Amino acid sequence: MKRSLLSCLFAVLCTIAAFGAHAADAAKAAPKGDAARGQAIASTVCGACHGPDGNSPLAANPKLAGQHPEYLLKQMKNFKPADGKQPERVNPIMNGMIAAYDEGQMRDLAAYFAAQTQKGETAKSRETIELGQKLYRGGDQAKGLPACAACHGPAGAGIPAQYPRIGGQFPEYTEAQLKSFREGARANDANKMMRMVAIKMTDVEIKAVSDYIAGLR
Ligand code: HEC
Ligand code: HEC
Repeated sequence: MKRSLLSCLFAVLCTIAAFGAHAADAAKAAPKGDAARGQAIASTVCGACHGPDGNSPLAANPKLAGQHPEYLLKQMKNFKPADGKQPERVNPIMNGMIAAYDEGQMRDLAAYFAAQTQKGETAKSRETIELGQKLYRGGDQAKGLPACAACHGPAGAGIPAQYPRIGGQFPEYTEAQLKSFREGARANDANKMMRMVAIKMTDVEIKAVSDYIAGLR
């Protein structure tokens, strides 16, 4: 009860922060994927990099376990090159990996990885934990940096269906994504939500918040 009230509050905050992101779009009911069918593909293909249960052994490959299925599906669709056009999210490895799958299979994969339990990382940098926490929870009003928690939740669990889980992720991956948003190399965020956040951050702040997020549960 308390939880759902809280997530309601955050959802409202985020809707405002998103400058009227089309909540209705995200709320559209979608057919559910079949996790068992997804597992068959995951264990033979995706598992090599993301781990058979979505807990990747290497920091270069993000953890997918426990991520919201809507976000997983969106990323897969964004990676998939369509009609000779540049994919919305550019990454040579994933653009190739996902090319063979149709939307139904992507839904199955999303259902499978979402149902797994994430094994989270830990924060490692004592010196920056305070800065990381401050930015995550409160942002930086002076430069108009919003709190990450407003959209990604106080424990980094995200808010389905619009805001991904980021807690427990490899800090190297989080850092790389923030820099990629900042440079505009990753530009698949609706309404530039993440690009407008990352552009206000220094390298030091990005590193601090990424390390803090690794330990969030
Ligand atoms: C050869 C290694 C490799 C394989 C195999 C692979 N991936 Fe990936 N995947 C990556 C890398 C690297 C990234 C990070 C891309 C980036 O930095 O933008 C990624 C990112 C992703 C993301 C985005 C995660 C996020 O948090 O935004 C999804 C979803 C994903 N992969 C799904 C899959 C699925 C489903 C399969 C199997 C069909 C698969 N991957 C196979 C390496 C791989
Ligand atoms: C206004 C809402 C909002 C705020 C504030 C926000 N984010 Fe995000 N974030 C998003 C959305 C939406 C996405 C998903 C973008 C997409 O669809 O690919 C995202 C994606 C991300 C990702 C990529 C996750 C992945 O698995 O690839 C990271 C990392 C991230 N955010 C970190 C942060 C950090 C750190 C902060 C605070 C400094 C922050 N975000 C603040 C909305 C927000």
